[in-house]
Amino acid sequence: MSTGSPRLLPADSGLAEAASVLRTGGLVAFPTETVYGLGANALDARAAARIFEAKARPSFDPLITHLADAADLEPLVGPVPPAVAALAARFWPGPLTLIVDRPAAIPPIVTSGLDTMAVRVPDNDHARGLIAAAGVPVAAPSANRFGQLSPTRAEHVVRGLGAAVDVVLDGGPTRCGIESTIVDARGERPVVLRLGALPVEELEKVTGPVTIRPGSSGQPVAPGTLAAHYAPRTPLRLLPIGSPVGAEPAAGDGVRRGYLSFRDRPADGWAAVEVLSATGDLTEAAARLFDALHQLDAAGVAEIVAESVPDTGVGRAVNDRLRRAAATWQPAG
Ligand code: TXA
Ligand code: MG
Repeated sequence: MSTGSPRLLPADSGLAEAASVLRTGGLVAFPTETVYGLGANALDARAAARIFEAKARPSFDPLITHLADAADLEPLVGPVPPAVAALAARFWPGPLTLIVDRPAAIPPIVTSGLDTMAVRVPDNDHARGLIAAAGVPVAAPSANRFGQLSPTRAEHVVRGLGAAVDVVLDGGPTRCGIESTIVDARGERPVVLRLGALPVEELEKVTGPVTIRPGSSGQPVAPGTLAAHYAPRTPLRLLPIGSPVGAEPAAGDGVRRGYLSFRDRPADGWAAVEVLSATGDLTEAAARLFDALHQLDAAGVAEIVAESVPDTGVGRAVNDRLRRAAATWQPAG
């Protein structure tokens, strides 16, 4: 853990300073519409290396490159397959990450040595303004330590990364609250590599049927691919999809437990309760998910019991994150 604090700047007035920190090889955490990103100049291998250090992220986990505008894609990577271009045209700026060939200008450390690169244009004016002002593509994973909860507020970044990051741009809570959907649309049939804020149903309106890569839907394939991802520090137990909403009774065994509800408040007896959306709105639930988990994690409970949400639209990505958080805490076997 690093000690000390980063410089916390308001997203509007701090933008020029943050851009100059990026240009000179520093690390800047910034808001996007999904979660806060930990940004570095994607053309600078040393700057990108600092991201892996700051997050304690394994070097085999590639970064997403962020652009200010969809029009910046072709000048960087050259012509892309028609399906990739169609998705970019329809959904950028927005919570969709696309796989393209890695251009020579992007050093291999950014893509962990892969000859492909993940790229997106975030739908957040501060993010786009920052990238445009820096004048370089910005490599940015989520601004959390590896395996921990993603940050949806500037204070989550400050708490999680401390002085390992030079500047945090505070743009308030993020709108979607869950990471981008990652799609490889280079082949005949697009493959969803990670469920995310853009629902699969929306993608399929443009591309026709997609394949969802096993593991991206959270079905446990190999425990190793699930473990230590999106996890609170507190053990989390996930109630199955279809369990009655809000009906769960606290155990009454004296153990302090927290409860994460989709819509309804549970019966009394929980030490801490977070409701994702009192109106049962999945978009709101996604936006609140990580903040609610951060809150329950800070509540000093021995266990978090979480409801699944309806498994449709962005609800699928919410359930995916909950399964991964729960998988971390399953007994090995
Ligand atoms: O919403 C988001 O996508 C956020 C914001 C900051 O943009 N970023 C984010 O980054 O979630 P991160 O590093 O937490 O997740 C990026 C994931 C990697 O773990 C990897 O699975 C996938 O993107 N990825 C990156 N490059 C890839 C590539 N060339 N091929 C396949 N997957 C790739
Ligand atoms: Mg992440």
